[in-house]
Amino acid sequence: MTETLKKLLQLLLDGQFHSGEQLGKALGVTRSAIWKLIKQLEIWDLTIESVTNKGYRITEPLTLLDKPKILSFLEPLPKNQLNNLEILDTIPSTNDYLMENRQAKLGNVVCLAEKQTKAKGRRARNWVAPFAKNIYLSILWRFPQEPSELSGLSLIVAMAVIEALRAYGITHPLGIKWPNDVMADGKKLAGVLVEIAGESNDICSAVIGIGLNVNMSLQNARDITQPWIDVQSLTPKSVERNKLTGLLLNQLLKTLAQFEQQGFLPFMPQWQPLDLTLGKPLSLQTATTELQGIGCGINAQGHLLIDINGEQKHFSGGDVSLRLSK
Ligand code: BTN
Repeated sequence: MTETLKKLLQLLLDGQFHSGEQLGKALGVTRSAIWKLIKQLEIWDLTIESVTNKGYRITEPLTLLDKPKILSFLEPLPKNQLNNLEILDTIPSTNDYLMENRQAKLGNVVCLAEKQTKAKGRRARNWVAPFAKNIYLSILWRFPQEPSELSGLSLIVAMAVIEALRAYGITHPLGIKWPNDVMADGKKLAGVLVEIAGESNDICSAVIGIGLNVNMSLQNARDITQPWIDVQSLTPKSVERNKLTGLLLNQLLKTLAQFEQQGFLPFMPQWQPLDLTLGKPLSLQTATTELQGIGCGINAQGHLLIDINGEQKHFSGGDVSLRLSK
């Protein structure tokens, strides 16, 4: 987004009408230049209402991500651990960005974007990531562990998302569909994508991406192919995206530091009450097969346990669908 376009957007953020003349004066450009800039804003998923004699108005007021505000919600310890927080207007994918540049970057760096044009979900799916509506966060973390020791990582990140929502004040029941779908009312609220690369000297780099639906319009969501929900539907008050992002980052940094030191075991008691698959009939789709059984929780590695015809088996990956009990 160019500086002029951003300035125009800042002026319109209050959701009030602004005349072309007033906007032109503020930006030092002509009214017809303003009209052209307004057209450009529409490319950024923003709906601008234009009314004769009144001017232009954003139909859904929004706030942009603000680094100092986000950082103000971090406790001293997590704040110390954070090496850099980058906020981008748009990027194909925050996960790809950190993965591709990981060699040049320190660990514990975070990238947030207002919009992603090629956001990735698990199992090669797309993630719908419109401008300034939700939270798209990726963090690069270096672990002095083998990739095989990180199998619980995506589970603890989903738990961190729930902790952050609780800290924000969301009291609505929330749960996790193994391994890392955060759900409310049977609909997806957030997803986690963990990508791991083994480096030399027994270090591995993990890029952990979180997509949290905060305030998604029906228009924005038209390409989502599964039942979804956003944080705004769970609270009557308008959601403060910067506060929620700060609380999420705070919890994520604390959780990752503990996981690095102590592994998955201390998180197990926290998992059980959130587990949506426990005791439920389910199907698991793996790369090679689909099988049915009853969810029996997880083991100490975070693998899913399924009772298949009386025999308990464990699985490290796959896509779970909950089946309705008869
Ligand atoms: C899922 O399929 O549930 C995982 C979705 C993960 C989406 C996030 S948004 C930030 C980060 N960047 C990406 O390209 N994907 C993740």
